[in-house]
Amino acid sequence: MSSDILVVEEDGPLVVATLNRPDKLNALDFALLAAIGALVSELAARPTKTRPRVLVVTGSGDKAFAAGADIAAMSALAPEEARAFSEHGQRVGRALEEAPFPSIAAVNGFALGGGAELALACDFIYASERARFGQPEVGLGLLPGFGGTQRLARRVGVGRARELVYTGAVIDAARAKEIGLVNEVIPHAELLEKTKVVGRVIASKAPLSVAAAKRLVLRGSEISLEAALELETLAFGAAFATKDAREGVEAFLAKRPPKFQGE
Ligand code: COA
Repeated sequence: MSSDILVVEEDGPLVVATLNRPDKLNALDFALLAAIGALVSELAARPTKTRPRVLVVTGSGDKAFAAGADIAAMSALAPEEARAFSEHGQRVGRALEEAPFPSIAAVNGFALGGGAELALACDFIYASERARFGQPEVGLGLLPGFGGTQRLARRVGVGRARELVYTGAVIDAARAKEIGLVNEVIPHAELLEKTKVVGRVIASKAPLSVAAAKRLVLRGSEISLEAALELETLAFGAAFATKDAREGVEAFLAKRPPKFQGE
């Protein structure tokens, strides 16, 4: 699972995946995207009991989460190859969104272009004070191709997304928090540990409930409110068939902490 370009560490119920091309500011080339995709598929295919509860995605080095898709690798692409590269990046984003566990992007520096898009495909983003976000592609004669035009608009609103994408502006962590792109700004040295603390809180909850809630939020953004509310009702009913629901309710009534099994 772990490789030179993607370092994967299991820490109890958490998996931390570190993009590791620091000399290229962790730019996303085909191989790194493939490694992230393979990791997410492998983790998602595990049975619930051995599946990680949360995936944390971060970047190695002090400077970058990921400074974009790899511009050198893109420089020689024909249009057809560029479409395949876009589809490849989008598949990885989709895999993160569809995975039955949440992912948190711990953005430790530049998250530009494809790096920002990768962070956006995670469930939410924590940012170090050093983080910088932007979609600079129009300055290269390109445009976001890993979901940026869609997920950014859904996250920060259409007006803010248009402004960022059309200007290619790079914003700091405080501004990113102000517009709702990141949830929290954290001192640089504490970013990973604080992200893991939240990951462990999520990991202490019933995993089937978290997975169902994740799915409902995702699907709900794609369909009518009426259909989404009906899905919520169905999922709510289904939760009552789980052992964890019995355990959670019994534990509350017995005034003891619950022990969830993912069943
Ligand atoms: N693709 C490929 N290589 C990249 C890269 C990218 N997106 N971003 C940075 N790198 C490489 C640089 O080419 C350089 O490699 P080199 O040492 O072999 O020349 C190395 O990473 C360090 O980057 P450098 O530009 O020297 O660092 P910096 O601190 O001066 O600037 C940035 C940092 C992020 C402002 C600058 O690297 C940058 O603008 N990167 C491109 C951002 C972008 O347009 N992303 C969208 C791509 S679609």
